[in-house]
Amino acid sequence: MSQRRPLIAGNWKMNKTLDESVAFAKELVEAVGSTPDVDVVIAPTTVTLHAVSQVIADSPIQLSAQNVHPQPSGAYTGEVSPAMLKAVGCTYAIVGHSERRQYFEESDAFIREKSDALRAEGVLPIVCIGESLEEREGGQTFSRVEAQLKAALEGLSAEEAKTLTIAYEPIWAIGTGKTATPAQAQEVHHFLRQQIATLVDQDTANSVRLLYGGSVKPSNVVALMQEDDIDGALVGGASLKVDSFRQLVHFQS
Ligand code: PGA
Repeated sequence: MSQRRPLIAGNWKMNKTLDESVAFAKELVEAVGSTPDVDVVIAPTTVTLHAVSQVIADSPIQLSAQNVHPQPSGAYTGEVSPAMLKAVGCTYAIVGHSERRQYFEESDAFIREKSDALRAEGVLPIVCIGESLEEREGGQTFSRVEAQLKAALEGLSAEEAKTLTIAYEPIWAIGTGKTATPAQAQEVHHFLRQQIATLVDQDTANSVRLLYGGSVKPSNVVALMQEDDIDGALVGGASLKVDSFRQLVHFQS
């Protein structure tokens, strides 16, 4: 268990209509309570951010977007800017999720643009990185995540780098029910922390939170969170039910 305050983030992906999102957020406010031992973040769909923001306004739950466009405004049909996310109450925004890298062909460079644009607006980026099954089996896990991390961090000052949260999400573990073992996740997290120390400095490496994502659920969260370099979880499937999200948030009790 690390000394950094744990962060449990629920990524709702493309699930829940407006009514469902509002009703679910109300239940989560109850389930999370007023003084959770962890930072709690939820990432509803873009069209429900505003309504969910109002539901969680007086609770400790913080709001995240699932995506953003790096430009401040203009002819980018279908897109949403960092300032728009800020205006509806987003503290965080997820960038570089493997589903966006895969289905929308987002590059490391474009993800970096998004993260820089978010920071300029005061929204905290949660940058996702992770290797495919092929890469893992080909022994390329470390070179892959190293390249992704470098693209996210290179050239940032310590102060800027500290605004990032990094989510290590092995693609083969997302939505598959196949979780990385705590030892497999810790091995990569430890490597990432060393890389942050090299790319920025040791103090930044000690303070940046590294989340694990990929089939996190109540039955495996405790073992994962016991690892020194795992500071939280980015959760898809298990964040969509009140009961499992409650157990994840209260994993220490
Ligand atoms: P999962 O998704 O928990 O359903 O595996 C995690 C993620 O994609 O962030």
